[in-house]
Amino acid sequence: MDAMKAILERRSIRDYLPTPLERSEVEELVEAASFAPSAHNGQPWEFVFIDDREVLNALNEGRKYASMLLQAPGAFVVCAKFPEKPRLPKGQGVEYFCIQDSAAAIQNLLLAAHAKGLGTCWIGDFDEDVLRELLNIPQEYAPVAVIAVGYPKYTPNARPRRPVNEILHWGKF
Ligand SMILES: Cc1cc2nc3c(=O)[nH]c(=O)nc-3n(C[C@H](O)[C@H](O)[C@H](O)COP(=O)(O)O)c2cc1C
Repeated sequence: MDAMKAILERRSIRDYLPTPLERSEVEELVEAASFAPSAHNGQPWEFVFIDDREVLNALNEGRKYASMLLQAPGAFVVCAKFPEKPRLPKGQGVEYFCIQDSAAAIQNLLLAAHAKGLGTCWIGDFDEDVLRELLNIPQEYAPVAVIAVGYPKYTPNARPRRPVNEILHWGKF
């Protein structure tokens, strides 16, 4: 699929068919994620794939915006390795590259999934302690997102976007 088409057509999917993902599909998505750029090619990301119904349901418990996990046949939990100290002092660039690196990887995963006919939803509504406990996430890693994944039941319309002439600044802000 053409990259621009994938970018423009991708939607957050919140209704899924029960069809499980093949192992090879999961691996292909993570390979796409791993081709994202990362500072110093640090690749500080790890991906936990979950298809256990009880765990998926547990990730929704007590959350407001994660109910698609009750339906989705799978989800990734994307974790980033945080250095002990910020990379640079405040004001000298972004403190932790690992969040940007992981976000780039997530977007690659979302677009690759869309190109393969899969749907995803990026979920920021999670309890870090619950994820750590359920998934055995080591202390030096932090979960940055849960990504629901599965074949879409339907594809919603595009959500409105701020127009380019509002967000693009030429030369000066
Ligand atoms: C960092 C981040 C966190 C998000 N968290 C949630 C979430 O917790 N629950 C949810 O339903 N959607 C979540 N979304 C999806 C956004 O609501 C969605 O991307 C936005 O409304 C635009 O819609 P679209 O993805 O279909 O273009 C999140 C997206 C991002 C990037």
